Amino acid sequence: MGKEASKAKCIALLTSGGDCPGLNAVIRGVAKPALHKYGMKVLGIQNGFRGLVENKFITLTDAQVSGILTKGGTILGTSRDKPKKMKMGEQFLDMTRVAGENLQRMQVDCVVCLGGGGTQKNALHLWKKTGIPVITIPKTIDNDVYHTDITFGFDTAMTTATEALDRLHTTATSHQRIMVCEIMGHNAGWLTLGAGIAGGADVILIPEIPYSYECIAESLKERRRMGKNFSIVALAEGAMAQDEVDWEKTEKKGVFVGKDSLDIPLINRVAQNLTELTNIESRVTTLGHILRGGTPSATDRLLSTQMGVTAARLCAEGQYNVMVAYKNSHCTPVPLTEVAGKKKVVPQTHPWITAARMTGTCLGD
Ligand code: F6P
Repeated sequence: MGKEASKAKCIALLTSGGDCPGLNAVIRGVAKPALHKYGMKVLGIQNGFRGLVENKFITLTDAQVSGILTKGGTILGTSRDKPKKMKMGEQFLDMTRVAGENLQRMQVDCVVCLGGGGTQKNALHLWKKTGIPVITIPKTIDNDVYHTDITFGFDTAMTTATEALDRLHTTATSHQRIMVCEIMGHNAGWLTLGAGIAGGADVILIPEIPYSYECIAESLKERRRMGKNFSIVALAEGAMAQDEVDWEKTEKKGVFVGKDSLDIPLINRVAQNLTELTNIESRVTTLGHILRGGTPSATDRLLSTQMGVTAARLCAEGQYNVMVAYKNSHCTPVPLTEVAGKKKVVPQTHPWITAARMTGTCLGD
């Protein structure tokens, strides 16, 4: 079969930041058309930007990207390292020049970077400082990447969190307790809000709405008065009480950030305070990295594949320095300069917030 013309002759893929379900599906989605439709050479870079600096390139063949659609994690490995400030021995150094030299030596025409908010910034920096083109694909269970309706990994994590909340319901009713369940999401509440609504949580606490303990306690007591003798609290890891807001950081970052000098972990503070205010026994569950593990959902496999093949096409067309966004059910390129450094948090007027409020869910305010 003849190959279609391609501007990029050699591309390199890396996965950066926290892993999530769907990374391998994207790698496969990029590599298959790149190899077979466009005849490109496809390289993998191991362990994110660190591997780029340490020259850890591997050649990706059809055999290596076959059978990985359903696999969690990333076959390339990942790290949170950034080229601009990388720990080398005892010190942090700017390794951007080394990264550029390695890419030039391998004759890479475009680096395809799979990652979240930090990766958008790192990829932009790499292109600006080395002139080597990049394309990014938005990954994260947090769903907080700007300019895309959704990130891959989010749907799977939301499904896992919802299942956990379902399971907590049966034990909560049996013991008539308050069950507080902490859910990842960094400074954004998408995962907790989505899973909280889908899992029927009675209280949902997200960073975008700093809460009042009195308000939550009142809603829990009201449930008791109505004969409901248990309650499920879905708590985002980045949530905070109204008097725990760090106003300096909040102003700097443009999203609500809590004080980090508090002695007792968030989930324990919430459970203890609610028990004190309501006299109802409570228990805590932190879902943590379970949310990032396992096989991607059908929705994530579909999204990852579409995003991957779009990135391959953009490489072939030479449409570089963009992020593959998903908007109105289509993959579309958006300039990386418009994404990097921004965060997508839950707007106060989002339909999910309205749905939660209208079904009587307490949002802590
Ligand atoms: O960004 C994904 C995420 O899982 C966040 O929800 C969480 O705050 C963070 O990564 C945890 O990172 P690490 O695995 O480095 O502890």
